[in-house]
Amino acid sequence: MVRSDAFVFFGATGDLAFKQIFPALAGLIRDSDWSVPIIGIARHGDLAALRDRAGQSLEAQGIAEPAVLRRLQDQLRFINGSDDDPDTFRRLRAELGTAQYPLHYLAIPPALFGEVVGRLGESHCADGARVIVEKPFGRNLAGARRLNATLHTVFAEDQIFRIDHYLGKEPVQNLLYFRFANRFLEPIWNANHVASVQITMAEAFDVADRGAFYDRAGAIRDVVQNHILQTVSILAMEPPSGHRTEALRNEKFKVLDSIQPLRAEDVVRGQYQGYRRVAGVADNSNVETYAALRLSVDTWRWGGVPFYIRTGKCLPVTATEVLVELKRPPVNVFAEMQPGDANYLRFRLTPDMSISIGARAKKPGERLVGEEVELYASHERGTELPPYQRLIGDAAQGDQTLFAREDTVEAAWRVVDPVLDLQDRPMPYRRGTWGPRATEALIPPPGRWHAPVPAADAPPPA
Ligand code: BG6
Repeated sequence: MVRSDAFVFFGATGDLAFKQIFPALAGLIRDSDWSVPIIGIARHGDLAALRDRAGQSLEAQGIAEPAVLRRLQDQLRFINGSDDDPDTFRRLRAELGTAQYPLHYLAIPPALFGEVVGRLGESHCADGARVIVEKPFGRNLAGARRLNATLHTVFAEDQIFRIDHYLGKEPVQNLLYFRFANRFLEPIWNANHVASVQITMAEAFDVADRGAFYDRAGAIRDVVQNHILQTVSILAMEPPSGHRTEALRNEKFKVLDSIQPLRAEDVVRGQYQGYRRVAGVADNSNVETYAALRLSVDTWRWGGVPFYIRTGKCLPVTATEVLVELKRPPVNVFAEMQPGDANYLRFRLTPDMSISIGARAKKPGERLVGEEVELYASHERGTELPPYQRLIGDAAQGDQTLFAREDTVEAAWRVVDPVLDLQDRPMPYRRGTWGPRATEALIPPPGRWHAPVPAADAPPPA
């Protein structure tokens, strides 16, 4: 596959460029010797201001490498222009010079995609090009379909890179690796042995200065439709038939395609107290900052196994964990065992990466009485590639493995579509709690939600 020979980013002065794109480009320059022209496009500013902003961005991310910053600044170009101005795209074509395979990054609101994509096509800037589009990919199933149709007027599917930064995270890739690189898991990884699967994506912080964005999204659009359902697809997929990218993406699609669309009774929505007073949030907002839900994955492997998901802002910890709870032994050989005692596998995805197996072991002493123990393996932090660096690097090489395919994105929207704009008021919850009490009732006893441990308290590596 050819390598992209120029990088173009729309929304060059925006938040995403500041927080993610500049640091990712710096990483690519440092680690992969990336030396292509980097062309920023924005309505305001000039090249000097963009170079300064790149410097501020790296400083804010703690990247203190003057040589890398200098190279990034040298590679930067700037086009002052707007998405609806044909002249902007003529200038872009001229700036691209001899580049034949540009990589365009649309770090702009999705409402502007149509205009930009059309003009990239007209001006021949799309010839031989690839395009990265940010989430949210549409606001619902119909919107995602329209967006896909718009992109396809100019780009073929193998030129489109729908980014979901969760897929660029090491611990998420490890889920896939751990499942299919180990033989011992497969015999138990199904409805015969698994009682339930839980995913908790908890964030202790609030929506901060993102009120205006968040109030048009809510937790289900913001993270369930993308990050969490992508994680479900990796957990539940069949082994891919071969190494091709599409073999993997086919299996992920099949999982999402087999999930029943959510019903209102499968979902508990919550809103933290004080959310309506956040700048940019409507004072009668019914947008959820918390969602707990129950999914059924209707495949032969998973029939009858509930997948429980919860996510929210202002929860007690910031951590994402998958907990796969196994069924109890068929016969209670030791009378001391309680109904809730069961083995589990726990995959910690953020902020640190670990895998634990929860088991029972005998307590020392005369009696055959046991206790819970955890077999624990963790990875040292700090060695992994930042997700945006990984993903932009992959897109520049045309590798779509870690990007969401059209059908998969639409299948994920189909799952959440019926519960996106529920009009009832979300249940209020206090900051620092695990959300509305009603969440408990989603899991019939003796099952229960398992809280992730706070990062600082995680058991030390064995
Ligand atoms: C983003 C959401 O996509 O993912 C945020 O818009 C969320 O609301 C974030 O906080 C979580 O990602 P990470 O990598 O910080 O865990």
